[in-house]
Amino acid sequence: MSATPQVAPEILQFYGTDFDEATRLTGTADGRLELVRTRELLRRQLPGAPADVLDVGGGPGVHAAWLARDGYRVHLVDPVPRHVEAALGAGVTAEVGDARALPVADASYDVALVLGPLYHLLERDDRDRALAEARRVTRPGGLVAAAAIGRYASVFEHTATTLLARDRVHDAVRDILATGRHEPGRKGFTAAYFHTAAGLEGELRDAGLGDVTVYGVEGPGWGQVKAVEQHGGGPLAADHPVFEAALCAARLADGCPELLAAASHLLAVARR
Ligand SMILES: C[S@@+](CC[C@H](N)C(=O)[O-])C[C@H]1O[C@@H](n2cnc3c(N)ncnc32)[C@H](O)[C@@H]1O
Repeated sequence: MSATPQVAPEILQFYGTDFDEATRLTGTADGRLELVRTRELLRRQLPGAPADVLDVGGGPGVHAAWLARDGYRVHLVDPVPRHVEAALGAGVTAEVGDARALPVADASYDVALVLGPLYHLLERDDRDRALAEARRVTRPGGLVAAAAIGRYASVFEHTATTLLARDRVHDAVRDILATGRHEPGRKGFTAAYFHTAAGLEGELRDAGLGDVTVYGVEGPGWGQVKAVEQHGGGPLAADHPVFEAALCAARLADGCPELLAAASHLLAVARR
């Protein structure tokens, strides 16, 4: 483990030039399902506003923007300069930085959100370091929330897109199921780690966090939303019955831990 962590060049290139993260949560129905559910799950856990929120790997600030509108003081840290510039435009403070070496003082935030860095840290040591940093900067009793991509998400995704039948995608998905790892250059995504719910929970507990609960963000119906949007000839409105049913399914699934495996993203909430 190096003293100064370096973000992998493929991550910086993916978010810096290849992919538009600013529209990911608003431009597609499964993205909107992730946004709506992440927001409602966090609102259940957050302390009352105003409070200090550190948004680690906050990207272009989609969550930071609604948190600021809710009355929170939000500071965003992200390694991609394009994201930091966009976040500054969303009305929060922001700086370039790495989840493994946060440029902020000990116990200086009521809430640390880590919604993205764990996706792109393939080595356990790096994820441990990011969670240790989230714990370090959070005040005693404060909230740490960490998101992960679900281990089985790519099976559902590429069934919906129908790309799973192609050899290149099939083999990349097979390897994700076996190892959790997606090496860059194999299918249309950058380097990524796909967590099981138990694995995510264990990583937060091992970081010294307590009261850990894991939620399935999009629930078990997001693949149908994606399939209908992809093959149904256009964007799916928020009041489309398939979207509404998937949102209902996600809420019902909160009481059914077995269904965590079907979610695209997992959200772990815990206390320092
Ligand atoms: C899928 S985006 C998520 C953005 C936003 N938090 C959200 O939930 O919509 C993943 C984010 O993690 C950031 N990221 C990747 N590696 C990171 C690291 N080592 N430290 C901090 N952020 C990182 C990326 O720059 C990107 O903004």
